[in-house]
Amino acid sequence: MTDSTLQAQIEAANAYEALFVPALFGQWAPKVADAAGIQPGQRVLDVACGTGVLAREIASRAGSTGHVAGLDPSPGMLEVAKQLTLGVEWREGVAESLPLADQAFDAVVSQFGLMFFTDRRQAVREMLRVLAPGGRLAVAVWDSLENIPAYAAEVTLLERVAGRPAADALRAPFVLGDQHALEVLFRDAGVGSVEIATHRGTAQFPSIHSMVEADLRGWLPVMGVMLPEEQIKWILEEAEQALSPYVSEPAPTMFHLSAHIVTGAKP
Ligand SMILES: C[S@@+](CC[C@H](N)C(=O)[O-])C[C@H]1O[C@@H](n2cnc3c(N)ncnc32)[C@H](O)[C@@H]1O
Repeated sequence: MTDSTLQAQIEAANAYEALFVPALFGQWAPKVADAAGIQPGQRVLDVACGTGVLAREIASRAGSTGHVAGLDPSPGMLEVAKQLTLGVEWREGVAESLPLADQAFDAVVSQFGLMFFTDRRQAVREMLRVLAPGGRLAVAVWDSLENIPAYAAEVTLLERVAGRPAADALRAPFVLGDQHALEVLFRDAGVGSVEIATHRGTAQFPSIHSMVEADLRGWLPVMGVMLPEEQIKWILEEAEQALSPYVSEPAPTMFHLSAHIVTGAKP
């Protein structure tokens, strides 16, 4: 990777940490840590750790006698995670092929990464492989779009103004909302005692404009969709009207969302 590519990744990861972590992701870390039942002294792996919000929560619970590792394929995400956190081992790699020893962890956690894995069943199998017998798994994914109306409205707007590829790019994080399919995925991969709990949360962005702009300029390009500047301006103008019915507080912009946390154990 060239220096300028890494620098661009670090800038994107800093933007993710500054906007999306407080707006969307931070609130789920304590819930996932609770679901995994993290105890002092445990060895824990966070898969798809991003800038490390969950790994930090886990590290505070596992304490100085524990050991926490965070894994992500993005060097930029890992660089920002390193700058923010001491005492976590950061590993570059993909969930489908964890560069880690068998039975090395007491718990494996992951939030909002599974939907982006190319082979989800293989990734869950890998999580089981690195778990010690009896070890716990806790994985969070977003609920279906139909249960998160603010994002559903944004997807509808994108479909109308920018077409299917742009709309599909924003649908991607919400494709694992079907509880039955999720349960089958984890059971088929060999996870025992699978349970799924749905939790309510609240998104909090500075404004509708900043939320949609971050999706158009930050998220869509990650998914390979670059919109022309004219279209971005047009969508941003229309977004105020399209999303405001679903906003519970205007400034900062707050709306409800929900996520599933899948728990299970290595038999
Ligand atoms: C929405 S972010 C979530 C990051 C973090 N867990 C959080 O809550 O802020 C999704 C993360 O999944 C990572 N990711 C994508 N494909 C992956 C794969 N195959 N294996 C592991 N991580 C992956 C991305 O690099 C990104 O950091």
